[in-house]
Amino acid sequence: MRINSINSYTNLYNQKRSNATAPSFGMWDKGSAVKAKKAIQRNEVYHFTALFRNAGFWSDFSKHIQTKFPNGVKFHNYAASDDSESYTIIMKLIDDLGEEKAKKYFPILSNDISATAIKQIKKRELIITQPEEESIFINLKNTGMDKYFDIKQTGLTYNQSLLKVKNSLYSKITPKRADIMKDLNDNTKFDEPCVLLFRNAWYFFTPNARTTLAHNLFNRLKPGSSLIVGSTEQTDVAKVLLEKGFKQAVVDGKPQSFIFERP
Ligand SMILES: C[S@@+](CC[C@H](N)C(=O)[O-])C[C@H]1O[C@@H](n2cnc3c(N)ncnc32)[C@H](O)[C@@H]1O
Repeated sequence: MRINSINSYTNLYNQKRSNATAPSFGMWDKGSAVKAKKAIQRNEVYHFTALFRNAGFWSDFSKHIQTKFPNGVKFHNYAASDDSESYTIIMKLIDDLGEEKAKKYFPILSNDISATAIKQIKKRELIITQPEEESIFINLKNTGMDKYFDIKQTGLTYNQSLLKVKNSLYSKITPKRADIMKDLNDNTKFDEPCVLLFRNAWYFFTPNARTTLAHNLFNRLKPGSSLIVGSTEQTDVAKVLLEKGFKQAVVDGKPQSFIFERP
């Protein structure tokens, strides 16, 4: 589906909703990976992201960042899609720390292999679902979404809303087309401990390529770095990461299934 009108974008979200019951990893792996690869080849966005995706995760994530990187850190967000995730991190850190103290974590380097995804980010438009609005409300204690978004249209299919990303948020990201595999071969990158996100995107790779990716991540990320994965990486990817030497992070005594540390 090409993103050249609100309607087609809405259709894409409807697809997202129809998949929202979280297929088993096997189904997701085979079906979605093929669809996703074809979509990228046709230069279409394979979206499937959300603001505060996994709503219960971001408080622990914020604590982890503040504890491990109190003086700031560079975030590399690969698989940014429309960059809902970088916006989530920025909003959460500002909400927890205040604008001034959160500054040291920005700008977030937002990368995606898809040219269309990067174009979409640069359009500064997001369509969000009702559950996303609720998860913003749950996660942000001190600020509202009006600080970051102008509402352009409401009442789209399934009550979705079209938002324009305000400069207060957009100025804190640096979008760029990039392939995580290629970047890991670039010796000028990742020269200090960092936080790298590659969430819900490992299914684009074959099992062998996933092993190579885990290996390259372990070799290239400096000790003290954190790697953040998503819910579709909870089985085979998590296993490979542990085998390669990554350790599951612990926050307030709770093991974190989405956060792996490079010891
Ligand atoms: C399902 S979205 C995940 C969005 C977001 N990370 C999340 O979890 O909500 C997957 C994204 O991964 C991107 N992607 C796939 N292979 C990639 C690669 N090798 N390097 C960077 N991005 C990639 C796709 O273009 C797509 O936008």
